[in-house]
Amino acid sequence: MSKREQWSSKTGFILAAAGSAVGLGNIWKFPYIAGENGGAAFLFIYLICILAIGLPILNIEILLGRETQKNPVGAFKKIHGDSNWKYVGALGVFASFTILSFYSIVGGWSVAYTVEALKGTFASFPDPEVAGEFFNLKNSNPYWVLGYHTLFFLSIIGIILSGVKGGLEKASKFLMPILLFILFALVVNGLMLPDSDKGMEFLFSPDWSKINPSTFLLALGHAFFTLSLGMGAMMTYGSYLSDNDDIVNASYMVAFLDTIIAILAGVAIFTVVFSSGYDPTAGPGLVFHVLPPLLSQLPGGYIFAFLFFLLLTIAAVTSGISILEVSVAYLVDELKFSRKKATMIMGVLVYLAAIPCALSFNLLSDVTLPIQGKAFTFFDVADFLASNILLPLGGFFLAIFAGYVWGIDSTVKALLKGDSGSLYFGNSILESPTSKMIFGFLIKYLSPVLIFLVFLYQFGWI
Ligand code: PHE
Repeated sequence: MSKREQWSSKTGFILAAAGSAVGLGNIWKFPYIAGENGGAAFLFIYLICILAIGLPILNIEILLGRETQKNPVGAFKKIHGDSNWKYVGALGVFASFTILSFYSIVGGWSVAYTVEALKGTFASFPDPEVAGEFFNLKNSNPYWVLGYHTLFFLSIIGIILSGVKGGLEKASKFLMPILLFILFALVVNGLMLPDSDKGMEFLFSPDWSKINPSTFLLALGHAFFTLSLGMGAMMTYGSYLSDNDDIVNASYMVAFLDTIIAILAGVAIFTVVFSSGYDPTAGPGLVFHVLPPLLSQLPGGYIFAFLFFLLLTIAAVTSGISILEVSVAYLVDELKFSRKKATMIMGVLVYLAAIPCALSFNLLSDVTLPIQGKAFTFFDVADFLASNILLPLGGFFLAIFAGYVWGIDSTVKALLKGDSGSLYFGNSILESPTSKMIFGFLIKYLSPVLIFLVFLYQFGWI
């Protein structure tokens, strides 16, 4: 059997994992969720969720991958035999289908808008209303949505086909610095606009009256989504690590990069929105309706609009590959398929699964399911199912597995195997008994209880 591929360096892994984490969640979702839920007040709760729940679970997910050198189904089987735990892994493979089916539609929009920005289309939009009409008109054409979705999808398949080092790692190493550079340019531009301080205030001075249990629900769901947790993406990436790699420090680095990039995206977007006197609570349309005209009306607007959508596309690609990689690794490990065959098969299956989501904006827009009092299309259902149910459920089981089945002692021992004289943070923080105790508390009690409460609340049971 051929040897499992590995990342070529620590930095390679960190960039690939950060590439997975930093995605549409940071640039498309985070700003509108924060906008709808009180800005800074939401940010505060979100940071708590990342630190207290996201970060410990991120460590565990990467660790399970590294310890077993397997995809999520194989990982549970290897540690716990042929028990029901393998179904938790299977849930991850199912989640990878569900997420990619709506994710690649938004990825397709990002590609489409990069092209429109290049064509200079946005300069003719006087305001977000007209931009919104343009968006709806384009989406009413199924060929347009499917065409760009296909383009986005093919780029993901191309990268996955080139393997771990030559595809996933190379793409992330090339694209992540570009992403950071573009974001930096957009932030500087935003901060120099008149009234940019209003945008900053919205993002950084909390209005506590905006916080209620559903803020918490959203923040927790989003923490899982944004750190790529609960479906085995980080586990699969972790399975290409060796015992010498320091997971604790890598997790800090990934969570830090992910959070800072979401906040910077918020700064880049809200400075523009407030400086043009628009409403920050525009919902999912914030990026595709509100920003194109506002960005292109700025000095240098042509280039900023182009850069923004390029940023969105890059973020979507480096996350998209990690989502598909879960199912591909499953076929390679469990059914011994070649990477090429596995990619082709999963690629076609996931592509087909995405079609109902693509048609949710046109042919199938009337096919809806009532959820939480609203009419959800296929697209909405996929997003809801993944972000609000599958990922937190995966996270819940991971916490139970590490806390009770594997045990905190073995988990921490395995975590500390890696070289702790790390590149970034010096000695691993988990070495002291107090921090081990805190880690144990977060994994055994806080995470499962909070996730459970969130579920009860979501279904209206409390
Ligand atoms: N973290 C990605 C984002 O923020 C989405 C993602 C979820 C990627 C789950 C992989 C697994 O856009």
